[in-house]
Amino acid sequence: MTDQTTAAMSRAEKDRVRGTAESTAPVILSVRDVSVEYKTQYGWMKAVNNATMDIRRGEAIALIGESGSGKSTLGFALLRMLVRAARVSTGEAIFTDREGKSYDLFKMSDKEFREFRWAKCAMTFQAAQNVLNPVMRISNTFYETAAAHGWTDKNAVKAKTLDLFRKVQLDPNRVFDAYPFELSGGMRQRVSIALSLLLDPELLILDEPTTALDIITQRAIIDVVKSLREQLDFTMIFVSHDLSLAAELADRVATMYAGEIVEYGPVRDVFYRPEHPYTVGLLNAVPPIVGEEFTPLVAIPGATPNLLNIPSGCPFHPRCPWATEICSTVNPGLRDIGGTHIVACHNSDKVTRDQEVWEGMEATSAAG
Ligand SMILES: Nc1ncnc2c1ncn2[C@@H]1O[C@H](COP(=O)(O)OP(=O)(O)O)[C@@H](O)[C@H]1O
Ligand SMILES: [Mg+2]
Repeated sequence: MTDQTTAAMSRAEKDRVRGTAESTAPVILSVRDVSVEYKTQYGWMKAVNNATMDIRRGEAIALIGESGSGKSTLGFALLRMLVRAARVSTGEAIFTDREGKSYDLFKMSDKEFREFRWAKCAMTFQAAQNVLNPVMRISNTFYETAAAHGWTDKNAVKAKTLDLFRKVQLDPNRVFDAYPFELSGGMRQRVSIALSLLLDPELLILDEPTTALDIITQRAIIDVVKSLREQLDFTMIFVSHDLSLAAELADRVATMYAGEIVEYGPVRDVFYRPEHPYTVGLLNAVPPIVGEEFTPLVAIPGATPNLLNIPSGCPFHPRCPWATEICSTVNPGLRDIGGTHIVACHNSDKVTRDQEVWEGMEATSAAG
C-alpha cells in the first residue's frame, strides 16, 4: 500500500468520525477518576477532581473551560510533568498503543516513563514558544531530544526534522541552525510542534498552542495543526479556552469546571445541544459558534470557586439557574460513562439555551 492510499484512507476514516455520533476505533487513553492536588500554605488544593474520559484512536478532543479549571494540570499529570508540590491523589490513566500494549501511566517506573514520553505521548506547552533553550541552536534541541531516546543517527534525525519543518510550513534551511531568538513567536511555536512530533507519538497534547500569539499567527498555527492531522496519524487533545477553535478542530469536546469533566460528547452535540449548564454558560458568553442567529452575550453569573473550598454537591450549583435542592448536596458525577454524550448534571433534561434564565439569575445575584 502506498503512503498516499494510507493517507486517503485515514482521511476518509477521519471524515466519518469527525463530529458524528460515534467512533468505533479502539480507546487509546482511558482516564478514570483522576484527581490532582497542589500543596499550598492552606493545605492541599484540588485542581483536578475525578476527571474521567475515554479517548479513541484518531480523534481530536478539545478540553475547554475557563482559566483555572484544571486543563493544563490534567495534561501535566498525564505526562508526569507536574511540579514537585503536586500529586495525583486518585485514579488511573491507561494508554494502549498501536500494538495493543497497555501502559499504566501513574504506575510505570521513571525509566519506563522516560522511554514512553515523547515516543508514545507528547505535549506542547502553553507559551511553548518560550520553552526552547535560548542558548542552543534549534538543530541541537532536536538532536538531543532524539538522542535521549537512543536515536543517535544524526543524518536521520536531521532528515526527519527538515521533513517536519516543511509539514509545519517552516523554511527548513532558515530554521534548522537558528537560535530561538532569531525566530518570531509563531515560528517558535511551529518549531515546538515539530519537536513534539519528532518521535512519531501516537497521542499529542497541545496546550493552548495559540494563546500567546497575535490573531493572524493564531490562524496560521490552526491551519498547521489541521494539515498535520491530515498528513500524520496521531490522536490529539487540544486544550483551549477558545470555543470556536474547539468547534473547528475537535471531534469531541470535554468541558472542565473546577477540575471536573462535567460534559463530554461529539462536538456537534455539545455545541448544538449542550446539557450542562456550565457549557451553556460558556456558549452564551461568546459570539455564536453554531447557527446564524444573533443572540446577546451573557456572562456566567458569579465567580469560579476557590479550589481550597469547592462547593458541596455539584461544584457549579451556586452559579446555576437550574439548581435544585439535591444539587447542593449530591455531586451528580458523569453518568452513563459508556454513552456518547455524557453529562454531570441532575437537571440536564431541563437545561436550555434560553438567555432569560441567565438574565434572571444575574438580576437575582445583583439584588442579593
Ligand atoms: N504550579 C502550581 N502550583 C500551585 N497551584 C497551581 C499550579 N499550577 C496551577 N495551579 C492551580 O491549579 C488550578 C488549575 O490550574 P490550571 O491547570 O493551570 O488550569 P487551566 O489550564 O484550566 O487554566 C488553578 O487554581 C491554578 O492556580
Ligand atoms: Mg492552562
